[in-house]
Amino acid sequence: MRLPEPCGPLSGAVVRLLSGVMWRRSDLAALVRDVAAVDAPLMDADLQLALACCYEMHYRGFEDAEENLEWAPELAAVVAALERRFEEALRAAVPGPDAAALPIDQGLRVVIDSTVGPSLSSFLLHRAQVEHFRDFLAQRSVYHLKEADPHTWQIPRLAGAAKAALVEIQADEYGNGRLAGMHATLFAQTMRALDLDDTYGAYWSETLPETHAAVNLMTMLGLHRRHRGALLGHLAALEMTSTQPNRRYGNGLRRLGFDGSATAFFDEHVQADAVHEQVAAVDMCGSFVRDEPSRKADVLWGAGCCVVLDASAGAALLDTWDAPGREEIA
Ligand SMILES: [Fe+2]
Ligand SMILES: [Fe+2]
Repeated sequence: MRLPEPCGPLSGAVVRLLSGVMWRRSDLAALVRDVAAVDAPLMDADLQLALACCYEMHYRGFEDAEENLEWAPELAAVVAALERRFEEALRAAVPGPDAAALPIDQGLRVVIDSTVGPSLSSFLLHRAQVEHFRDFLAQRSVYHLKEADPHTWQIPRLAGAAKAALVEIQADEYGNGRLAGMHATLFAQTMRALDLDDTYGAYWSETLPETHAAVNLMTMLGLHRRHRGALLGHLAALEMTSTQPNRRYGNGLRRLGFDGSATAFFDEHVQADAVHEQVAAVDMCGSFVRDEPSRKADVLWGAGCCVVLDASAGAALLDTWDAPGREEIA
């Protein structure tokens, strides 16, 4: 993929830096000032795109970016400035949980159940047309074409039973080493069935800031060792909120006449995540908080961030459709 078109001063500065244009100390000072001026970081298109570009250097990168900038001090300083504002906003939106007294699997359930939003999956099940599904898949492709990658980064930071449980989940996500079974492969197949371009990064130009924010969250939690607890909570929340929406997405596509090649990705998640949910909450998070009890609140916070940002990405997409009867499905 190529570097995207910037949409403001922050993404403009990051794209300039990544394309190898000389970076001066004053550029960082200007960027820090521009970051401070951002009002609502979780839905700010410029900040989220800037962060997504920085993070992409750790995934597949950009063909027109300077590869050797990945760990350059000037990029690290930019990332630190963007992340500070992002994390500050996350801490404000998702305060520390009150579920810390409960066993972790129950605490996770409380955190998940306390977040409500309009139901994107109900809309897709009952009312969506093919165009709505195309928009939905284009947004989701930002994550699902690299599905599971952000969570893999924490594997080396864990030990014992928590590590084994994370590897068990991730192995399934990667099709247990079979290309055809990789969830990213199944997602690409769904995209093709709906005549979408399954090229990695093809839809970045129409990605909503809330979608970038949800993916940037996973990357931030994956890249920092200090966020290992939050990352596990994030993964547990993903797994625990997966079965029902994925059943609806698959049935919505069947309602529109699509066959198994389009629905395999969703059908696989209905099956796999019914198991992953238990492995993630009990084996992975349970073992982790036994090993590191002081990190329990981090686990719950990560789960809270996951559900809040996913709900906001879903609501933002529904808003773009101005879907009739939206309130009835809330
Ligand atoms: Fe998956
Ligand atoms: Fe899963």
